[in-house]
Amino acid sequence: MTRHDVTLEWADGRSETVSVDSRETVLEAALRAGIRLPYDCRKGTCTACVGRVLAVDGDGSERDESEAVDERRSIDAAAAFDYRRQPEALTERERADGYVLLCIATVRSECRVRVGPMVRAEIGDSPWG
Ligand code: FES
Repeated sequence: MTRHDVTLEWADGRSETVSVDSRETVLEAALRAGIRLPYDCRKGTCTACVGRVLAVDGDGSERDESEAVDERRSIDAAAAFDYRRQPEALTERERADGYVLLCIATVRSECRVRVGPMVRAEIGDSPWG
């Protein structure tokens, strides 16, 4: 059984680190730890649970928040996550930009993920959303 630490970061500066078993999703691990994250469908179809990867352990890349709009600095969510099922609510472009559906995402690497309503608002502004 492999576990990875995922640090969840909110816009107000709060952060929580949750240890995620390879057999569970980030949302499942967070709820088990008593961490409140938004969710709805839990099937990858609604974006209520979306987060955005800020850094992945070991890949040497880390996005500075001041450069969040710089698409060249985006971290592909595939660097840290696999999916239990097809993430239908995200486009391939959004996944490549670091957006991840935490309700169906399993973890392959320690990472930091921005969470909260602001992340979902970004998706809403997407021309593909
Ligand atoms: S809760 Fe709907 S996509 Fe995750």
